[in-house]
Amino acid sequence: MLFPPLCYSKILMTEDILSAELITDGLAARLVGRRVLYYPEVTSTNEIAKTEAQAGTPEGTVIVAGRQTRGRGRLDRSWLTPEGNIALSAVLFPDETLLRSLIMMASLSVADTIETVAGLPAQIKWPNDVLVNGKKVCGILIETGVRSETVRFAAIGIGMNVNIGQEELSGVRTDATSLFLETGGRVSRLRLVRELLEDMDNLYASIVSGGSVLEEWRDRLVTLGQEVRVTEGDAAFEGIAESVDRDGSLMVRRHDGRLTRVVAGDVTLRV
Ligand code: BTN
Repeated sequence: MLFPPLCYSKILMTEDILSAELITDGLAARLVGRRVLYYPEVTSTNEIAKTEAQAGTPEGTVIVAGRQTRGRGRLDRSWLTPEGNIALSAVLFPDETLLRSLIMMASLSVADTIETVAGLPAQIKWPNDVLVNGKKVCGILIETGVRSETVRFAAIGIGMNVNIGQEELSGVRTDATSLFLETGGRVSRLRLVRELLEDMDNLYASIVSGGSVLEEWRDRLVTLGQEVRVTEGDAAFEGIAESVDRDGSLMVRRHDGRLTRVVAGDVTLRV
């Protein structure tokens, strides 16, 4: 990632400070990140993103927070964002047909960003958890709504564990990790956020113009070929995650031979 000299020196001097100005200064992104709002503390960046979307903010607005007090995860779980992590939400107005691609685009951007900035190989657990060394380092929550009769919006919420240690993580979940723990050193949140916005901007432009991220996303899925347990509401079943179909749904071969299409359940790897 190249920065003009001025921006680069600013980044070096202010390693882990986040602000809207530092994030947007010289950013190559055309759409995602053209307006950035930074808050030291919010309830949930997704909540702010949805309010902004309804109030008429331009597409590509990104809300970044230093901390969240009521961060939310998938399936109504809570999501902890202590100081040192990244919590951001991007507001997009995608065509309805692109909603499934957003899941792929977001997780792929995060995985690419982690590799570029932290130098760590990253994989995706279906549908959009990002793992490093088999442990979750990032979760993504995509919520949609309507702004007017013609505009639907998506709030793409991304929570990444960056500069936190084992103690803070023990309050999160047992199979989680942080970039700090995996690299053995602090990683610049500013570089991560800037790289992430540029990656999302590129991939979003590609899917909007008819491109596909399916193959690239599928190649990063750690889930395929694994024994999994799928939970959908109160029901659960086990099988082998065989493939993904064109819209990203997971095809699971049950032990009795039936092939089941999973669109939105919770999938646990049974390693
Ligand atoms: C999950 O793995 O369950 C998804 C976690 C998503 C967390 C992010 S942090 C930024 C955004 N704001 C929220 O309240 N949630 C998402």
